[in-house]
Amino acid sequence: MKVDVLLGLQWGDEGKGKVVDVLTPRYDVITRFQGGPNAGHTLEFNNIKHVLHTIPSGIFRDDKINVIGNGVVIDPSIFKKEIDSLLKLGFDLKKTLFISKKAHLILPTHRLLDAASEAAKGDAKIGSTLKGIGPAYRDKIGRDGLRVGDILSNFEEKYKARVKQHTDLLTKYYHFDYEAALSDYEKAWFEGIEMIKQFQLIDSEFFINKQLEAGKSVIAEGAQGTMLDIDFGSYPFVTSSNTITAGACTGLGVAPNNIGKVLGIFKAYCTRVGSGPFPTELNDATGQHLRDVGNEYGSTTGRPRRCGWLDLVALKYAIMIDGVTELIMMKADVLDDFDSIQVCTKYKINGQLTEEFPYELEGQVEPIYESLPGWNKTLTGVTKEVDFPAELKNYIKFIETKLNVPISIVSVGPNRSQTIER
Ligand code: GDP
Ligand code: IMO
Ligand code: MG
Repeated sequence: MKVDVLLGLQWGDEGKGKVVDVLTPRYDVITRFQGGPNAGHTLEFNNIKHVLHTIPSGIFRDDKINVIGNGVVIDPSIFKKEIDSLLKLGFDLKKTLFISKKAHLILPTHRLLDAASEAAKGDAKIGSTLKGIGPAYRDKIGRDGLRVGDILSNFEEKYKARVKQHTDLLTKYYHFDYEAALSDYEKAWFEGIEMIKQFQLIDSEFFINKQLEAGKSVIAEGAQGTMLDIDFGSYPFVTSSNTITAGACTGLGVAPNNIGKVLGIFKAYCTRVGSGPFPTELNDATGQHLRDVGNEYGSTTGRPRRCGWLDLVALKYAIMIDGVTELIMMKADVLDDFDSIQVCTKYKINGQLTEEFPYELEGQVEPIYESLPGWNKTLTGVTKEVDFPAELKNYIKFIETKLNVPISIVSVGPNRSQTIER
C-alpha cells in the first residue's frame, strides 16, 4: 500500500479538514505531517461544528488510527485544550491517537519570540498566527529543539536550558517584557505535557511503514497550503514548514516511492490570511461579497481573510510542485450569485505575459483574466453532478482543461453531506 496525500494548493483554509473527514471511511490511518496549531481545520456534521488544530481530521470516525507525525510541532497547552473539548463531545482519543516521539515541542517562549519578532518587523510583519511556529521550527533546524520523546527523561533540565536561551534573546535582543506572560503560559503548558504522557508515544516512521506493509491504507493530511511552503511559497510571507507533497515524506518517514495519490484541494476562488502578495486580491465590494458569503474569517485567529478570484497561474505551479493526481474544488456555492466569474490565467510582468509563477510577486504583477458565465443559482442542496447548472459544468471543464488534472470532488457547502463525487 502507499500513502495518499491531501493538501492545500493555495494559501491555506481550502477546506482540508472537511474533505479528510469525508474521505476517512476509505482509510485505516490518518496522519498529520507538518505545521502545528497555526492550522485550523473545520468539520461539520450532525449539528457539530468543530475546529481541529494539531489533531488529524479522522478522529470523528470509528475504528480509525490517527497519527501526529514527526514533522508536526506541538504546543502541549493547545493540544490539551483540543483533547478536553473532544472529551466533552464524547470522543476519547487515548486509544486511537498516536504521537511521534520525534515531533518537536512549541515552548511557551517560542510563542513569546514569535510575538517579539513580529512586533520588531513592524509593517513588514508576516502576519503570523503567533502560535510560536517560526521559532519552534527555527530551533528544530538549528538543532536546539525539544522533542516529544524528551518528555520521558530529564525533561525539566532540558526545558530550563532552552528557556534560558530564549529569555536571554527576549531581554537582550528584543527588549521584550516577557515575565508575566511566561508564567501564565507555563502552567497550562506543563498540564499539557502531563496530558501528552497519557498518549501512546511512538516511532511513527516504523509504525506507518509497518501499517503499509500490512496492507493498511494511509492518508496524510496537509496543513496550510502550497503557496505558504517555506521553499516554494511567497517567501518570506510563508509558514516555516514544507507544506508540499515532499513534506509528507520527511514529516512521516515515508519514502517518495511510497506516495500514492496526491489530492490537491482548492477553493473555487482564492483567499489569504496574513501579509504578503496576492495577485488576484479584490479590495472592493466583490471581495467583501466573497468574504461575507464564504464566511471568510480565520478558523484559528478569527482574522478576516483577504479574498479574490481563482488564480490558475499559482494553481498550475502548485500542481507541478506537488505532483497532484486529482483536484478537489471547494466552496463552489460561494460563487452562486455572479453573472460572470473571472479566472486569472496569466500574469503580466513588465509588459510580458507569463503562465509561470515568478520569483518575486510584490508590486509588479498584473493578473490577466478570462471571464466565464456565472450560474446565478443556489448549489446548496444539489447532491448529484447531473443537477449542476450548465455554467458550473463549464467552469469545471475550463479549469480541468487549463490545468490538465481531473476534478474528482466538488464541495457545495460546509457540511459533510454537501460533497459531490464525480
Ligand atoms: P482548512 O484549514 O483547509 O481545513 O479549511 P478551514 O476549515 O480553515 O476553512 C474552510 C472553511 O470553509 C470552514 O469554515 C468550512 O466549514 C467551510 N467550508 C468547507 N467547504 C465548504 C463549501 O463547500 N462551502 C462553504 N460555503 N463552506 C465550506
Ligand atoms: P490551515 O491548515 C491559512 C499563515 C499566517 C501567516 C503565515 C505564517 O488552516 O490551512 P505562521 O503562524 O505559520 O507563522 O504564519 O501563514 N497561515 C495560515 N493561513 N491557513 C493556515 O492553516 C495557516 N497557517 C499559517 O496567516 O500569513
Ligand atoms: Mg484553516
